[in-house]
Amino acid sequence: MACSWLNSCLLLLCTLLAVVVSGSKRNLPIIAFDEGYTQLFGDDNLVIRRDGNTVHLSLDERTGSGFVSHDLYLHGYFSASIKLPADYTAGVVIAFYMSNGDIFEKNHDEIDFEFLGNIRGKDWRIQTNIYGNGSTSVGREERYGLWFDPSNDFHQYSILWTDSQIVFYVDNVPIRKIERTVSMGLEFPSKPMSLYATIWDGSDWATNGGKYRVNYKYAPYVTEFSDLVLHGCAVDPMNQSSKCDTTHSSQAIPTGITTSQRIKMESFRRKHMTYSYCYDRSRYKTPSPECVPIPQEGKRLKSFDPLTFGGGRRHRGKHHHQSHSSNVEGSSM
Ligand SMILES: *[C@@H]1O[C@H](CO)[C@@H](O)[C@H](O)[C@H]1NC(C)=O
Ligand SMILES: *[C@@H]1O[C@H](CO)[C@@H](O)[C@H](O)[C@H]1NC(C)=O
Repeated sequence: MACSWLNSCLLLLCTLLAVVVSGSKRNLPIIAFDEGYTQLFGDDNLVIRRDGNTVHLSLDERTGSGFVSHDLYLHGYFSASIKLPADYTAGVVIAFYMSNGDIFEKNHDEIDFEFLGNIRGKDWRIQTNIYGNGSTSVGREERYGLWFDPSNDFHQYSILWTDSQIVFYVDNVPIRKIERTVSMGLEFPSKPMSLYATIWDGSDWATNGGKYRVNYKYAPYVTEFSDLVLHGCAVDPMNQSSKCDTTHSSQAIPTGITTSQRIKMESFRRKHMTYSYCYDRSRYKTPSPECVPIPQEGKRLKSFDPLTFGGGRRHRGKHHHQSHSSNVEGSSM
């Protein structure tokens, strides 16, 4: 019968699809939550799903929530599939980042993915940033829109950190590469860091510079983390011994950017970048030495926000350096 033929074709198609979908993840050394992480705060606002690989973090009137890796890592590849809360999310911040701030209070390092919520009908934005050796007076933020709605489904966000470069990826597309330059010195993160994931109330800055705050009428705000990857050298800061994950070396883990990926990255940045510290003349009279201006990028940012990126009139002598990336969310939504 035609219908049974159709059924077996559908079944075959589904099987093929399932193979393709899991194939891209099969090679990743995914670990269960309990194997690699521990709760940081938020009591029962952190929920581990039954499969042990998916974690829900929520924010309500009482608290946000978060988790942290058991180990500190010196270099590696760190990744998670993340689904963000939908609808009205202004003021909500979800951070997926590496830091050693609890060990090195004065000279900490940090590598950040920050997701900034928005009012209904406006898209989430992503911010990336790094600090090294406590360089919080120099924020190296970039912000972008995305080519999909990150609250519809899980998407993979990854950080590659080596001694010479840091690459941020979204669904395996590199969106930013930071190369270690001589002028950066220790401002390039170079000490072991833990991996963190948190959701919290960033009302004072996250959306339109604090104009739109978290509205707890829409709480709880729930984000889901899955496919957690910690692939690197775990370092014991007490005795400096390190334990590298070499058993899981696989093709799914990038070691750098290929030519075709570089083309994708440049295309992403031309289309989706909405802020870069390298072009922000209202914060930095002269760009950091590692900034290599690309005329197309600068021109596009200027068309968004001539005041910030134009390099025109400034309020002289009234310039305050910001102490944390968190404070620099601009007026562009
Ligand atoms: C790192 O930070 C410490 C503490 O602020 C400072 O004393 C030191 O000079 C910095 N080192 C470098 C190489 O920048
Ligand atoms: C040093 O670190 C290793 C690996 O983390 C650990 O197994 C060992 O017990 C540590 N030794 C001491 C003396 O702390």
